[in-house]
Amino acid sequence: MLPLDRREFIAALGGTAAVGLMSHEARADALEDALLARTQGVMAAAQAVASAPAAAQPYPTVAELAAQVPDLPRRRGTGAIFFNSQAGGKLPLLPKMPAKPTLVDFFELRFQRTRNHCFQSAQLAMKNGADEQVILACLLHDTVQELMRSDHGYWGGQLYEHYVPERTAFAIRYHQALRFYPDEKVDYEMPDFYRRAFGIDYVPVPHVQRDYEMVRKHKWYDAPRAVTVNDLYAFDANAQVSIDPFVDIIGRHFKQPKEGLGNDNSPVAHMWRTLANPDAPL
Ligand SMILES: [Fe+2]
Ligand SMILES: [Fe+2]
Repeated sequence: MLPLDRREFIAALGGTAAVGLMSHEARADALEDALLARTQGVMAAAQAVASAPAAAQPYPTVAELAAQVPDLPRRRGTGAIFFNSQAGGKLPLLPKMPAKPTLVDFFELRFQRTRNHCFQSAQLAMKNGADEQVILACLLHDTVQELMRSDHGYWGGQLYEHYVPERTAFAIRYHQALRFYPDEKVDYEMPDFYRRAFGIDYVPVPHVQRDYEMVRKHKWYDAPRAVTVNDLYAFDANAQVSIDPFVDIIGRHFKQPKEGLGNDNSPVAHMWRTLANPDAPL
């Protein structure tokens, strides 16, 4: 992962004194927001997030992170489309979706917070010679975080399994578990970010442990592992990546329903409808 400029970032947040008053949770939360902002080339956006990169800060413990929950403005698992950590929390009006929305429409009109990260991940996978099923997995791997962040691999696998090859859905579902486990053979180490976000003494929960044990022996292990490997370097503020290089891959491997995503009566159509209209009251 490309490092943020720590001095520039702390200055943007009001200096070291201001940063010193921020909680570990706020720092970890903001690191993610800052990295996402960085992918869009918007360093100024970092001013509105609640924390510093905390490169020289001690890691929080699991208990410290848990104790901060009552002070949070939202649950940690809240999907990115439901809040805005910039502009004082004000929410932008969302552009209208077409009557028969396609995956590309969702990328353009709804996946504001995740698309650049996913484009860059897919671009790196392409550069590294990954096959098209894996490139597609990288392209989609975090987009469900617009809807739900907690357990996002499983939510993502569910959201896409009706539309993509089985191996692609497998890669999306299990990249979440594999990111906690190193693999020397492919030069993968757990990113520091997870120690800050989950706590230095965090032990993966039982379903993640169980699924890691299953996936590491699975014939498709390479696919979710490739998502974690290409995830590492996916943040670059200067890179301008668009969906264009991936449109043909989507056309070949994504089963776009003719009625439009959300209108297709699939078991997950409601998830697409919620993404299309997250302002619906009930
Ligand atoms: Fe992810
Ligand atoms: Fe990612």
